[in-house]
Amino acid sequence: MNKFPKNFFWGGATAANQYEGGWNEGGRGLARTDVTTGCTKETKRMLTYRLPDGTTGAVSSMGGQVPEDAELVVLDGYYYPNHTGTDFYHRYKEDIALFAEMGMKMFRMSIAWPRIFPHGDETEPNQEGLKFYHKVFDELHKYGIEPLVTISHYDDPLYLETKLGGWNNPDNIENYVKYAKVLFDEYQNDVKYWLTFNEINCGVMMSYFIPNMPQENITKSYRELHNKFVASAKITKYAHEHYPNFKIGCMIAGTVVYPLTCDPKDVLAAQQRTQEQFYYAGDTMVLGAYPYFSHKIWKANGLDAAYFEKDAEILKEGHVDFFTYSYYGTTCESTHTDAVRDGGGNLSLGYRNDYIQFTEWGWGIDADGLRYSLNEIYTRYGVPIMVVENGVGALDQMEEDGSIHDPYRIEYMKEHVKAMGEAIEDGVDLIAYTPWGIVDLVSASTGEMRKRYGVIYVDMDDEGKGSLDRFRKDSFYWYKKCIESNGTDLD
Ligand code: BG6
Repeated sequence: MNKFPKNFFWGGATAANQYEGGWNEGGRGLARTDVTTGCTKETKRMLTYRLPDGTTGAVSSMGGQVPEDAELVVLDGYYYPNHTGTDFYHRYKEDIALFAEMGMKMFRMSIAWPRIFPHGDETEPNQEGLKFYHKVFDELHKYGIEPLVTISHYDDPLYLETKLGGWNNPDNIENYVKYAKVLFDEYQNDVKYWLTFNEINCGVMMSYFIPNMPQENITKSYRELHNKFVASAKITKYAHEHYPNFKIGCMIAGTVVYPLTCDPKDVLAAQQRTQEQFYYAGDTMVLGAYPYFSHKIWKANGLDAAYFEKDAEILKEGHVDFFTYSYYGTTCESTHTDAVRDGGGNLSLGYRNDYIQFTEWGWGIDADGLRYSLNEIYTRYGVPIMVVENGVGALDQMEEDGSIHDPYRIEYMKEHVKAMGEAIEDGVDLIAYTPWGIVDLVSASTGEMRKRYGVIYVDMDDEGKGSLDRFRKDSFYWYKKCIESNGTDLD
């Protein structure tokens, strides 16, 4: 029996900051990712800065403290992998032709905000930036591929962030709304499916991910998240009023947390973390109101409920139409402090689950968790769902004849496709699957190229050496067959 609906969107996902490149072309401004260096699994990505007296330096991009009067800048002697990404800016035609060859029905991409508003506070958009995405959408439509566009994916204009206070400043809401309105008006005939923010909950997840995160940073992350919720709701309302054919979705980092044991205290610990990290964002964006447990969270973080409740009407009016999330694997919570807390995952850290496997980068692999989470989400929200990120970051080896044998990726994708089919059989309204980094691109967390997710290989290494030529991995042919058979031929 064919479980996937006839019009299921088989796709692939990317983000401009990691894929597009062309960082200083076409009038584009800077984003934080342009002043973030590469690193390895063992070292950290660094933010580079200059002090007024000319002294330069670098601090960890995850939780490091940039000196107060420092300016984030690009410095000689450092390597910034996001500057080139894997060059979609110049190779979009070639890549889209490969997507079409695979039979892809949907392509998730993001628009680089600084390509449209280089500083973020301009009144007029950068026409050259707008033209670039017109060319991309034309190319996608030539092959009947539906774009799924993330409005903001980790590349807010650096100027907004460093000079105007970023999301901690509620004025940022209007800068975002202006930017998103320009996109809606400009691409109204090109794009129907939009996601307002990538992994909107990532800031509040950091408190579990970065050890000893200062309380003031956690508190700030809740305020920033609130301003993003308001921005998302405002632009969703605008879309509903002006473009009723649009579908607007949230995008939430999938935090699937199991209790490590059946100790009821572990069950509660897992539930509370899930509420805080996942449903806090999901409920606010899909149901249009903060959930009941928010008061406890605000209080615990020294926050005044009035800050959040003043915008209740806006949140209610701007709830999204569909739910999307990134799903890589699961982790565990426990009150048993003797357990080892080394069960990693996407933006998450918890206790190791002995029943699952882990990737070379220590992320838990759990296809059943995908079916489980799809059911949980659908039970709670009852709206269509897209899995907009999923995949295994792995070391690939190119053979002398240009082939790349990646059975581990095929296995991972096969099990997750099976799990989605089962969830659909369970009754979940799953409408799309866009596996992450369908073309190899720069890793967000490590800045590496060798942590590859793609079914399309890109010849580029961690130091920026390589031809950037594209090669089909074995998984490319597997995914093509999967799409052709609408998820039935998975061998
Ligand atoms: C998600 C992000 O967190 O995970 C992507 O939305 C990111 O931008 C992806 O690339 C995989 O993470 P990483 O760190 O392996 O690139």
